Amino acid sequence: MHGPLTGASHPTPEPDLAHHGDAEVGDGLVDLAVNVRRAPMPAWLGDPIRAALDDLAGYPDPRPARAAVAARHRRPPEEVLLTAGAAEGFVLLAQALRGVRRPVVVHPQFTEPEAALRAAGHTVERVLLDAADDFRLHPDRIPADADLVMIGNPTNPTSVLHPAADLAALARPGRVLVIDEAFADTTATPGVPGEPESLAARRDLPGLLVVRSLTKTWGLAGLRIGYLLGEATLLARLAAVQPLWAVATPALAAASACATDVAVQAERAIAAQLADDRAYLVDRLSTLPGVRVAGRPASAFVLVQRPGADRLRADLRERGWAVRRGDTFPGLGPDWLRIAVRDRATTDAFIEVLAEILEA
Ligand SMILES: Cc1ncc(COP(=O)(O)O)c(C=O)c1O
Repeated sequence: MHGPLTGASHPTPEPDLAHHGDAEVGDGLVDLAVNVRRAPMPAWLGDPIRAALDDLAGYPDPRPARAAVAARHRRPPEEVLLTAGAAEGFVLLAQALRGVRRPVVVHPQFTEPEAALRAAGHTVERVLLDAADDFRLHPDRIPADADLVMIGNPTNPTSVLHPAADLAALARPGRVLVIDEAFADTTATPGVPGEPESLAARRDLPGLLVVRSLTKTWGLAGLRIGYLLGEATLLARLAAVQPLWAVATPALAAASACATDVAVQAERAIAAQLADDRAYLVDRLSTLPGVRVAGRPASAFVLVQRPGADRLRADLRERGWAVRRGDTFPGLGPDWLRIAVRDRATTDAFIEVLAEILEA
């Protein structure tokens, strides 16, 4: 069930919120549909995960990982809740916050937050950001009495990075403000240390909950590890509905490893390389007729618009390339595709095929 729409007109038919990029890969296709980085696992990550396999008889103890993640984000451990991927965080939110009256989800964005809310019986209101405005957030578009607001930053699938100040302005007593930072570790601004526009370390904003994932940059989608950051009292409510031992021992080992300085430095280097590769992809796409890249992409993927993109996607599949359909995201439609940023050689090969299809 979803409620009224605020803002731009609603595309029809109702998008399939349960569709995800992993449904579009396989069959030997080159995967530009899923935003998980594929690279050999560094020893500092692989070794503790493998060592944890020798210790599976005991129930998981989340305390060391929780402390490590808390230290990374300069928060006390009570302000961290480890989850089986960011996806579990959305379910906990939806289940624990059953009392909210006006939950608002800002779209286009990852569909699971809304799906989890709906599954828990909430009536969800959508605020659709405008393609013509490059999907920028205008804080005044969020209803003043919304008591739960969910936004992605950077946003999947638009790759738009909203200014931290705009997001912070949405926090207020009586509202839970959820910022999905699953891809925050993919962002980088030259000359700026750390993750630009992240609210992960902000402890002064009432009701702020930051959702984080370790599955993207570190290629751990199959391990299921993420976490929530926010007020201890709020997280305690979510923890109360979490299944016992939800995060397995190898996933906890990964969380600890990814919270070290070595990991964070590696993450920054990966994000800087990604920025180069993304600029290259955007540049190459801009040479193609009728292809428009949305906004100023800031993450591991770019969103493109071209009339008849759904046909293009089918043609690409026939030629061995999987890209993510756009029509399952509220606020988009069949003219949109999401393309993962890969290395230059992969981008060159992709653009060559795409150009051939467009010229045919
Ligand atoms: C924006 C966004 N948030 C959260 C998730 C879920 O991540 P996880 O694998 O940590 O559950 C995804 C997965 O695609 C995503 O795109």
